[in-house]
Parts: sequence; structure tokens; C-alpha cells
Amino acid sequence: MKNKKVTTNLIRGGFKRTNFSETSEPLFLTSGFVYETAEEAEKSFKEEKNRFMYSRFGNPTVDIFEKRMAKLEGAESCWATSSGMSALFTILMSTLKKGDRVVSGRALFGSCHYILTEILPKFGIEVKLVDGTSVKQWELALKKKTKIVFFETPSNPCLEIVDIEKVSRLAHKAGAKVVVDNVFATPILQKPLELNADIVMYSATKHLDGQGRVLGGAILGNKEFCKEIVKPFIRNTGPSISPFNAWVLLKGLETLDLRVEKQTKNTKEIFQFLEGNKHIKKIYYPFDKNSKQFELAKKQMIDGGTVISFELNSKKKDDKKVSFKFLNNLSLIDISNNLGDSKTLITHPYTTTHHRLSESDKKKLKITKNLIRLSVGLEEVSDIINDIDLALKKTFKNDK
Ligand SMILES: Cc1ncc(COP(=O)(O)O)c(C=O)c1O
Repeated sequence: MKNKKVTTNLIRGGFKRTNFSETSEPLFLTSGFVYETAEEAEKSFKEEKNRFMYSRFGNPTVDIFEKRMAKLEGAESCWATSSGMSALFTILMSTLKKGDRVVSGRALFGSCHYILTEILPKFGIEVKLVDGTSVKQWELALKKKTKIVFFETPSNPCLEIVDIEKVSRLAHKAGAKVVVDNVFATPILQKPLELNADIVMYSATKHLDGQGRVLGGAILGNKEFCKEIVKPFIRNTGPSISPFNAWVLLKGLETLDLRVEKQTKNTKEIFQFLEGNKHIKKIYYPFDKNSKQFELAKKQMIDGGTVISFELNSKKKDDKKVSFKFLNNLSLIDISNNLGDSKTLITHPYTTTHHRLSESDKKKLKITKNLIRLSVGLEEVSDIINDIDLALKKTFKNDK
């Protein structure tokens, strides 16, 4: 996992000091900029002069974040956004028009599912959802001309793996651009552009900040897409990131590889603990050697990541009650719908992040009432395991 270039880029990428010779990246907390003359303002608006004009269009602190992200991802260009959801919404709404078609993996974060199934159809855009793990289903769905192919890999919350290379090949034949939500893998563990995807998006709110402070998002792709399609959309509709948030994210990026490495190691140890526990019925973890998806996960990811999901073995009891009891019995791990944080966070997707899905969609996505999602943090791993162990024992104490 150690790659000196990545580490150095995370700390120094995109940063050129101002004439004050500061050590840390400067925070330009300004909404606008001034012009020496009216002629200069006119030239700037005509794009005859390249300079910062207004923070909805661009800002020096945001610019450092975008350059650093582009280097990290190996992308030609990056646009930062105010959140992960605004990154996805920008990609879709700037590209699609009435009559276009989108094919997407079905296993999605709740809000991504909402945009695809509730918002896009209102604009006359056809959306076809497929089982992302089935190349056959992608093949069938992509027999028709398509504008965008979208998927999360690993997906939220059951960590399904989509074959980026194979799906990209099929998508390109159908004329589609491939958009990958790389939030769960992080730019440290997976590089979709190297596997022929066209666009990568992040919720920077997750590992990129990684310390629960700010919302943010990023869109990464080639120069043409970012300049011709994304730029005018962001400039005129305003899902821009605050310079303050971009500055916090720059500080987050400095330690991204260290955090992801330690969190990934902790997750592996927690997986080993859960694997042998009688109160756990099923585990979803990309680097589970017994999983059908392990070979694919290993092919496209450097390691298993920082999130693990599992089903409690609640036997014939009320699954929701047992899950709530388990969550409420934890004392170190926090109940939260966020992930990728330095603090270990636990979620009951059925009643929170994915509560809006219909019963039939939940069933298809294996979002059962006994499903728990754990985002593993940076604490001493034995403390996390002890907390889970004690909470399981308390929850199932009257069971034989
Ligand atoms: C996979 C995935 N994509 C996108 C998002 C949305 O990110 P944000 O909360 O920054 O809008 C999330 C948030 O949980 C997510 O898990």
C-alpha cells in the first residue's frame, strides 16, 4: 500500500506558496475578488483573462484541493462540490437530457437511489437498475444505446463488487460514460480510471475528511468533460464547495493513506473476530476469502477497505428489536449514519440510510432488519472488538 508518490502528493500536491511563504495551505475565505479596472472585469467574464472572479466559479483554496485530488486519482481534472450528493447530481444533470437512458447498479446509497429512481424519471430520463454483480445483466441492459452507466463498488451497505473493467467495456460499446462512486474503496485502495471508467466521484465527507468535520464532494474525469460539461453547470447552478471546507479537506488528505491503512487493518481484525462468532449469521466484507466476490475484489482493490456489514443471528426473535438492542448495548462505538471516520461508527441501514426503499427493493439489496453496517475507525482494535463482544453477549444473554 505504501507508495511514496501518493504520500507526497497527499501532503504537497497542488500547493504553490503565496508571497507570504506560509507553511500550510492558505485559506481564502472570500466570496469574491476585485478587479483593477472595469476592462479587466470585462476581459475576465469573456474568459480572455484567466483569474479568480467569484467563489462560486473558483477559489484559490478550492483550486489546491482540486489539483491535489486530480493528482491522487490520476485524473486530468477535478471539480469540487458541496457534498457527495451534489457531485452525483452535477454529473447526471450536466450530462443527461430528456429521452436519455441510464443503466445503474441497484445496490446504492439511499440518496443515490432516490436521484436515479425518483428525480431522473421526472425529466423524461429512462433508468434501468441491474444486479451490479451480474455481468450477464449488464450485458442485457447495455444492448440499447445508453448515456451513463453508474455504480458503487463496493456498494453501500452490502459491499457488492462490480467488475469495473468488464462493465466499462460493455458500457463503451453502448455509447455510455462510466461513472464510479468510489467512496467505499477510497482513492487509496482502488483506481477506477485505470480500469477504464470515465468519471469518478467522491463524498469527501467520508474518508477524505475522515474526522467528521465537513461535507464535500469531488468529480474527477478528463479535461473535456470537466471543462465543457461540468464547469458551466457548476458555475451557473452553484453546488460549489465552501473554501473553508476545501481547506479542512486538504488537511484531511495529508493523513488519508495512514488512516485508510490503519482502518483497513483494524477492519481485517474485526472480520476475523466476527467470522468465528456464533451470534453473527452472515458477513459482507470484500476480502473474505470464502466470498464469491473475493477474486474480483482482489483484482481491482488493493485491500478490503474500512467498512464491514453483518447480519445478527437473531434466530426467531424480532430482528429489528435485536439489532436495536445490540446497537444500544455498545458503549464505545457510536450510532451514526456517517462512515469513513476516525471514530468507529455503526448503522442500522434498514431504519436509517435505506429506510425509504420499498420492501421489495430492500429484499433485493439484502437490507434486512438484522443487517448492521460498521465503519471501522482508528481506535485500538482490541477496544473496538471488546465493545462488540460485550454488546453481543448482553444482547444474547438469555439465549442458550
Ligand atoms: C456511497 C455513497 N455515495 C455518496 C454519498 C453522499 O455523500 P454526502 O453525504 O457527502 O452527500 C454517501 C453518503 O453516505 C455514500 O455512502
